[in-house]
Amino acid sequence: MSIFESLVPSDEEISKQKQLLATLSRLINKEWPNSKLYLYGSCANSFGFSNSDIDLCLSIDEKEMSKVDIILKLAHILHAGNLRNIQALTRARVPIVKLMDPNTGLSCDICVNNLLAVVNTKLLRDYSQIDKRLRPLAFIVKHWAKSRCVNETYQGTLSSYAYVIMCIHYLQSQRILPCLQEMEPTYYVTVDNNICAYFDQVDKLNGFGAQCKDTLSRLLWGFFRYWAYAHNYTKDVISIRTGRSISKNMKDWTRRIGNDRHLICIEDPFETSHDLGRVVDNRSIWALREEFERAAEILHLDPNPNITLFEPY
Ligand code: CTP
Ligand code: MG
Repeated sequence: MSIFESLVPSDEEISKQKQLLATLSRLINKEWPNSKLYLYGSCANSFGFSNSDIDLCLSIDEKEMSKVDIILKLAHILHAGNLRNIQALTRARVPIVKLMDPNTGLSCDICVNNLLAVVNTKLLRDYSQIDKRLRPLAFIVKHWAKSRCVNETYQGTLSSYAYVIMCIHYLQSQRILPCLQEMEPTYYVTVDNNICAYFDQVDKLNGFGAQCKDTLSRLLWGFFRYWAYAHNYTKDVISIRTGRSISKNMKDWTRRIGNDRHLICIEDPFETSHDLGRVVDNRSIWALREEFERAAEILHLDPNPNITLFEPY
């Protein structure tokens, strides 16, 4: 818990994030009154560390403009608004504008019309409110992944988003979390032809996991044991959408197609054709599995695991 508490952003930092969101919204709305700026990613899903960059998404209906044109115009608007270090990255897979705000000292990335990310951010935040063990578990897993260099998608390891989903899956398997997408929906949106529906009245689910009394440290050990020894990498896809593991066969994820090797399969909860493990290749899968085993062994045998576990790679 003390490791978790050392990573949580302060109230002051959170109010600075809100201040920046308000400043940017005001600036952008002057030019595009019908647009809306959303906070997504770790600053909004409740799994954000102190000092992390801010992810923003501009939702805008400009049929005449391409995404790249919108990005370029956005950069222009921000230039006029006293923001610094503005860069329009128009060739990236997801085009973004990067900037720094001299008033708060915060840096952020703004993407355009990536509303699925806004919705999956809400799903993760809603899960974090059901059982108070999820948030520290995911913080510690993310901290471990960053310390051990297995949180780098461009090197074939997993995103923070994937690790949080792996934690939710594990807690679902322990009956500590329910499966919100299998319950009667109270929240319903369609984004880019994906239906996003689930039960979001999570205040009614307080105490759901109370039957299981496992402590945070026991769950952390269980999480690593699960990924080291229990998960079937050959046959299974983890799916928080269904609350269990489903078969690779069922999704036709059994062979390599293009760059999708499906060596560790993590289904995106809404974009179900998307395997979050697609970045993992023949080399990094073993690096990853060795790290899961290392962590499980440290938690099993080491009398003082809180140092060894996070030793820099
Ligand atoms: N995202 C997504 N699909 C992915 C990766 C990310 O939709 N394959 C979206 C999710 O909404 C996620 C956000 O992008 O919350 C940011 O992703 P990421 O950087 O992995 O996670 P953060 O929570 O921002 O973690 P960090 O603290 O490491 O920045
Ligand atoms: Mg982020």
